[in-house]
Amino acid sequence: MKGTIIITGGAGFIGSHVVREFVTKYPDYQIINLDALTYAGNLENLKDIEDFSNYTFVKGDITDQNLMLDIFKEYQPDGVIHLAAESHVDRSITDPTAFVMTNVIGTVNLLNAAKEIWKDDYVGKRFHHVSTDEVYGTLGETGLFQETTSYDPHSPYSASKASSDHFVRAYHDTYGLPTVLTNCSNNYGPNHFPEKLIPLCIHNILTNKPLPIYGNGKYTRDWLFVIDHAKAIDLVFHNGKNGDSYNVGGFNEWQNIDLVKELCKQMDEKLARPIGTSAALITYVKDRPGHDLRYAIDATKINKELGYQPSVTFEQGLSLTIDWFLNNQEWLDNVTSGDYQKYYQGQYNG
Ligand code: NAD
Ligand code: TYD
Repeated sequence: MKGTIIITGGAGFIGSHVVREFVTKYPDYQIINLDALTYAGNLENLKDIEDFSNYTFVKGDITDQNLMLDIFKEYQPDGVIHLAAESHVDRSITDPTAFVMTNVIGTVNLLNAAKEIWKDDYVGKRFHHVSTDEVYGTLGETGLFQETTSYDPHSPYSASKASSDHFVRAYHDTYGLPTVLTNCSNNYGPNHFPEKLIPLCIHNILTNKPLPIYGNGKYTRDWLFVIDHAKAIDLVFHNGKNGDSYNVGGFNEWQNIDLVKELCKQMDEKLARPIGTSAALITYVKDRPGHDLRYAIDATKINKELGYQPSVTFEQGLSLTIDWFLNNQEWLDNVTSGDYQKYYQGQYNG
């Protein structure tokens, strides 16, 4: 495939890694990064590739239906990789409507724009929707999410992503739009916004603040290094089957408390201070309402059908992530000034 690809949400955490992967790996593609630059979008994430001749940034809000159609008419994309979203569960609890607007209406606007300009000629075209394992709801102590697992979302965030997934499938089944969908587990890595567990704890360790653990800390998440997610998106975008979904994960489950303890240990080692210094900051706080107990992905399909394998172990990925944050404290200072302070006080009273 040659041509033009619109990547939405390319200034965000995962989107920036997807943009870099595509811009550097495929010089024949024109990559259009379409992003509204909300609190989570940061063009600093793409400093190293912003001057590449196959990269263009376009500022735009996907909730604006007319603007989306204009942008699609102007750039005539052959492919869309859709990551733009409101992505934080805790924010969805305080402001669910923003999640409906961006995640549901925004997705439908993009589907309509693609359908409009492709005009039933779908040869060489692809709409890749990037979603989450949270749409499946929660697991008990055992079992794994498969592509056939019924959707059962519990948070406004996961409900909005589930809704967007249904629209993507409906556009494939009703209009024949060439769609693929990926449902990935929790990501971590460079450029992760410090509202999420791992970067929030790294930031709090560096600023000597409490490490807030919701409830009893025994909630379980399945963690994948962000660059390995970008590589999975590349594989599915190019080789996935129209109309199909692919679960993405690395069979890497951690209870939150064990993960934070491991992070504390690595931080103490890298900061050359006595083991236990960071863990002393661990503080149990009020639980998240509707907190899903356990997420765990069965990634057999993407492995068997497309040969997907994560490239790093969790220990390697976590070490790379901590090193990145230690070497980019200015990035961290910039994103944690201003509005972040208000968010933090509202969420954690301090
Ligand atoms: P993020 O919050 O870091 O970034 C979201 C990006 O979307 C930002 O650049 C923001 O400016 C942009 N955006 C938000 N609203 C927009 C709008 N109305 N119009 C245009 N741009 C807008 O999110 P992320 O963690 O990088 O997640 C990216 C995608 O991957 C999301 O769709 C999310 O649901 C999915 N996902 C995330 C994870 C995870 O662990 N973070 C796991 C699986 C799937
Ligand atoms: P998070 O990083 O917000 O991702 P998600 O909710 O999408 O899984 O949270 C990961 C886990 O960590 C989740 O079980 C909630 C928990 N958590 C805390 O215990 N404390 C915190 O301050 C945050 C942000 C999350």
